[in-house]
Amino acid sequence: MSEWPAIDFGHTAFESAFGRGDVYAVAPDPTRMGKRPLDIAIAGAGGVAQAKWIPAIRHLQMLGEPVRLAAVTDPRPDAVDKAARLGGAKAFADVSMLLAAQRPDLLIVTTADAAHAPVATAALQSGVACLIEKPLSRDYREAQALVRLADEASVLLAAVANKRFSPPYAMAKALIERGALKAAPTVFSGKFTLGYPYVDLLEGGTVHLLDLARWLMGDVVRLHARGIARDEGGVLSAVVSLAFASGAIGTLVTSAAALSFKPWERVEIIGHHAFLVVDDQFETTLFDEETGPAKSWRPAIPNTLMFDEAFGGYVGLLDNVLDAVRGITPLAATAKDGAAAIGLIEAIRRSLAEARDIDIVAEGLSP
Ligand SMILES: NC(=O)c1ccc[n+]([C@@H]2O[C@H](COP(=O)([O-])OP(=O)(O)OC[C@H]3O[C@@H](n4cnc5c(N)ncnc54)[C@H](O)[C@@H]3O)[C@@H](O)[C@H]2O)c1
Repeated sequence: MSEWPAIDFGHTAFESAFGRGDVYAVAPDPTRMGKRPLDIAIAGAGGVAQAKWIPAIRHLQMLGEPVRLAAVTDPRPDAVDKAARLGGAKAFADVSMLLAAQRPDLLIVTTADAAHAPVATAALQSGVACLIEKPLSRDYREAQALVRLADEASVLLAAVANKRFSPPYAMAKALIERGALKAAPTVFSGKFTLGYPYVDLLEGGTVHLLDLARWLMGDVVRLHARGIARDEGGVLSAVVSLAFASGAIGTLVTSAAALSFKPWERVEIIGHHAFLVVDDQFETTLFDEETGPAKSWRPAIPNTLMFDEAFGGYVGLLDNVLDAVRGITPLAATAKDGAAAIGLIEAIRRSLAEARDIDIVAEGLSP
């Protein structure tokens, strides 16, 4: 390839740093600042709201985005007060009180999983657009109902698929689209492992890889899973065989019997006499020559321009959703995408329980 994709691994653009002397790329940007101002609310003021989404909002504000955190809701008084102070927002004890008092342009739903659907339903019924954390819902029918409700009400509903905006995966996607694999992808291999059960293996963790598999390879049409159960119930480890609509094939290994506190992930994609690897959401490597060098991209950790909320994909995802709310760009990850990942989890559960191949469309698991 003569020119490599311009995916930002945490650096300022060359022209900004050395042409304009704007090392942090924070100089007033009239295009961004001229956009329609938007108010955001957050439902669920726990870990991910405080550690990722409020920093993502602040990051966009730093770049000049006309956006404000207007309200936060959580039944836990300590959490909601802290998050409201952190974001300079008003605190509410529940979403109905928030919706009675304010009409935000976007509600980010970062509640515990069980509250995603009821909270988003209340917002959608009030005509408020939502961005729902993964999993859209733990229940496939509930996820489908959310997609339908948003369609019928013509209200924007987005799913969190932050890894799509994380540089190593964005680079993989851009390389595939530029033909770096010398053919459409033919084989997908994904691995996701964790240790202590602080998130559910399938809905909490593997859901990310299922979204990446669909995004990088296209729709899954069949799957078969084998698994090992936890003594206390639930899935400890699973191996899943995938067939994609394109004719490509894939495999997924997921396990809660390894170690935590690090994104232990690996994605490999084979084209035709070329393949690429994304290791631990950190490094993307392209192997495209028998005797030439591999090409690899990874961040420089001491780089003071690198931000976790940006490298994790939250800033890019939110930037896209805000422009979609304004009607100036399509959503990059729709509610249908979120529901499709849940449909695949339901298919894995059925395959494990009944030891059979699952036809995703015939079994009504494709939203
Ligand atoms: N995208 C990612 O990689 C990522 C990372 C972490 C968490 N998440 C998701 O984000 C969500 C929150 O995770 P967390 O780690 O912040 O959990 P957490 O337990 O720290 O926070 C959840 C908060 O939701 C609140 N809550 C429960 N019901 C509510 C309701 N009806 N209205 C308002 N608030 C309510 C709880 O009181 C709690 O403060 C989960 O769905 C999780 O799967 C996604």
